[in-house]
Amino acid sequence: MAVELVIFVGLQASGKSTFFRERFAATHEHVSKDLLRNNKNPNRRQAQLIQAALEAGRSVVVDNTNPAIEDRRPLIELGRKHGARVIGYFFDARVRESLRRNAGREGKARVPDVAIFAAAKRLVPPSYSEGFDGLFRVHAADDSTFEVSAYTESSGSVPGADSPE
Ligand SMILES: Nc1ncnc2c1ncn2[C@@H]1O[C@H](COP(=O)(O)OP(=O)(O)O)[C@@H](O)[C@H]1O
Ligand SMILES: [Mg+2]
Repeated sequence: MAVELVIFVGLQASGKSTFFRERFAATHEHVSKDLLRNNKNPNRRQAQLIQAALEAGRSVVVDNTNPAIEDRRPLIELGRKHGARVIGYFFDARVRESLRRNAGREGKARVPDVAIFAAAKRLVPPSYSEGFDGLFRVHAADDSTFEVSAYTESSGSVPGADSPE
């Protein structure tokens, strides 16, 4: 199987790390800036970790909010450079849902609400035009299950947008 670079995109508390543990922990390395909080240059360190894994033929998940195209571009480039399949998972939680799940977290896991608003403002759903080989949508349902579906760009509603659903 080809080496994969999996890029998560989604607001804080949208279920990314839980999804990683359930679906990828056995097969993919976990790279997350949450694990690099004490690093002076987390972006550089993250790139080094991704590069080391891909060079060794190990698949990786990049578990950050990765809200903007500029956040994803260097990751996608790195994947391409190493011949990895680049796959995106878009976690479709809206702001209200994210705030609610965040409020239920303890200690360091809880982020200030303003960080969620800031990420929502920057969030641009991923697109094949960025260079993804595959894209999926993930919905964290309230019964603690995850619904994964093929991502179609026409269905790419922006979390936090006020449209009813
Ligand atoms: N499928 C789910 N349904 C309901 N709650 C979930 C689900 N997945 C995760 N959670 C809860 O939501 C919160 C945020 O999950 P987490 O995986 O840490 O999100 P993220 O990594 O995106 O910040 C946690 O308290 C977690 O227990
Ligand atoms: Mg997380």
